[in-house]
Amino acid sequence: MWSCVPANRWRKNVVLPDAGNPIRITHSIGGAARYCHLTMTFEEWVAALEQRHLANLRLPELTRALRALSSAYVERRHTVGRGGPLDSAGKRAAFALFYAPLHFLTVTYVIQALDDAVMPPPSSVLDIGCGSGAAGAAWAVASERTPTVLGIDRHPWAVDEARWTYRMLKLKGSARQGDVTRLPRLDSGSAVMAAYVLNELSVDTRIRVLEQLFAVGAQGVRVLILEPIARAVAPWWDDAASHAAEQGGRADQWRFRASLPPLLQTLDKAAGLNHRELTVRSIWLPGRAA
Ligand SMILES: C[S@@+](CC[C@H](N)C(=O)[O-])C[C@H]1O[C@@H](n2cnc3c(N)ncnc32)[C@H](O)[C@@H]1O
Repeated sequence: MWSCVPANRWRKNVVLPDAGNPIRITHSIGGAARYCHLTMTFEEWVAALEQRHLANLRLPELTRALRALSSAYVERRHTVGRGGPLDSAGKRAAFALFYAPLHFLTVTYVIQALDDAVMPPPSSVLDIGCGSGAAGAAWAVASERTPTVLGIDRHPWAVDEARWTYRMLKLKGSARQGDVTRLPRLDSGSAVMAAYVLNELSVDTRIRVLEQLFAVGAQGVRVLILEPIARAVAPWWDDAASHAAEQGGRADQWRFRASLPPLLQTLDKAAGLNHRELTVRSIWLPGRAA
């Protein structure tokens, strides 16, 4: 499992002391930061995912599904809002086994870089559009498992998968079926995240969700929004980033060098992808009531 130690400074090109899976951070920020490293290795979690999702699928089938899933995210975004990405067992397995670990790694490093995301730990993390639960789990794990996690997703498969992820990672977590437009009540001191989900919503729905996220952010809830960097995927990003800045938040782009476990490397290459570097952009509201 992850454990965190304070570090004096967060520097360019820091190699995290993560035995077996060193990952280089290429983004630099000043001020106090913490290094986190695994005591249960990331590879063990991926191995459990492999057992779970490769039980009924052969690698070539999974690779084909991963190609289809990736092209749905990149080239056929209009199918995404209709649930296209998770419409077959192969694509669901490809999401859980490939994209979820990438999201887990990415969220971990963003959370660590945003020091006030973990210090002090939020009392709870609400993960809207949680998918298989990786993003919320990463935040809770980076916060030494103090926060409870609640994952909400409209897809029943995602809800089951998120529950499994929380159990595997020994988190105080629960997941339920629901819509991102209906946020449960959040206390100040808690956190909410929307990882790779806002770009799947219709314009009206996204506006409603963003309004709610900014409203709870102004009431003291920490808010983290993550999206892929490609501008075409989120043309609304700049407006949301400006709004965040007006509210005392920040927007960043991140680039991490990742050394992926062998299975993920194999899948990455076989599907014609390239995730040696992980990139993401974030909007962060620190949750200090104005
Ligand atoms: C790309 S996945 C991201 C999953 C997860 N946040 C992660 O980072 O791995 C987007 C998820 O959002 C969910 N989703 C899309 N629209 C939704 C809505 N209106 N309400 C709830 N969940 C939604 C999908 O079912 C899917 O699981």
